[in-house]
Amino acid sequence: MQNFLSVKTCSKQELMNIIKLACDFKANPGKYSQALAGKSIATIYEKPSLRTRVSFDVGIAKLGGHAVYLDQQNGALGQRESVKDFALNLSRWVDAIVARVFDHRTLEELVEFGSVPVVNSLCNLYHPCQAMADYQTLYEVRGNSLDGASIAYIGDGNNVSHSLMLAGAILGVDVRVITPLGYSPDAQIYEEAKHLAAQNGGSITLSHDVSHAKGVDAIYNDTWVSMGDSKSLEDIQKIFKPYQTNGKLMTDTGAKYFMHCQPVYRGIEATDEVVDSEGSLLMQQAENRMHAQNAILMTLLCK
Ligand code: CP
Ligand code: NVA
Repeated sequence: MQNFLSVKTCSKQELMNIIKLACDFKANPGKYSQALAGKSIATIYEKPSLRTRVSFDVGIAKLGGHAVYLDQQNGALGQRESVKDFALNLSRWVDAIVARVFDHRTLEELVEFGSVPVVNSLCNLYHPCQAMADYQTLYEVRGNSLDGASIAYIGDGNNVSHSLMLAGAILGVDVRVITPLGYSPDAQIYEEAKHLAAQNGGSITLSHDVSHAKGVDAIYNDTWVSMGDSKSLEDIQKIFKPYQTNGKLMTDTGAKYFMHCQPVYRGIEATDEVVDSEGSLLMQQAENRMHAQNAILMTLLCK
């Protein structure tokens, strides 16, 4: 592993190693307190963040490293100076770059022109750090196993759904993506995920019917309007209303757990009843962002 732009270039063994290292870091943080000693990591944000911002910052400090935060005041990368020059400069000071960007191409340019590992902390296509924290969470609640695990992503076919499909495919999970007509995930990413699932014993299916979630371990939601989308929430709500996760859907499907990457829009994609239920894994997922990301950083930087 040289970079972490998407999970799709990783093997099942590599992803399982990240999950197991994340669990070990969570259980024994002291063991890793000097893992990134003397290392500095630039964390760049073209879009807002709570979880990603804090979990990388605090996580890097817990590994003995130093996070340098570059916020949205700098505007989109490539505006003040080229992404090429940005990457060339940063590579002279820092040991890795973590970037949340509008366009996946920006991450590819950071890799192309920089000389340090690059981690994708969300782009238009993927949210791989989120998916690793999510599968770590599912692994934990299922007694440290993903064998036979199943998850139904219900909502917009977006970056979060893409990474859940790809990571689930590699990890051998049954991933069902349920969206309104016209809001399916990217067709090429779906084909890639299906191919990876066939190689690793997973299964990826698409549907427009929430009853397809019957029997899954967890129902997973994301916001219906992502950062940078120009759709009006009012219009989207009319189309997505039948896809809301509420108590009835949890009962009808028999799903034990509710997952969400957050921020959650309560009463829109999911009701309070579900968000605050005993089976809600939201805060465990949020905590695991830090552990999973630390495992990713150690995998990239401690060779
Ligand atoms: N889930 C997630 O990435 O949250 P933030 O946008 O707050 O970082
Ligand atoms: N799909 C959402 C995820 C937020 C963490 C977005 O891109 O805004």
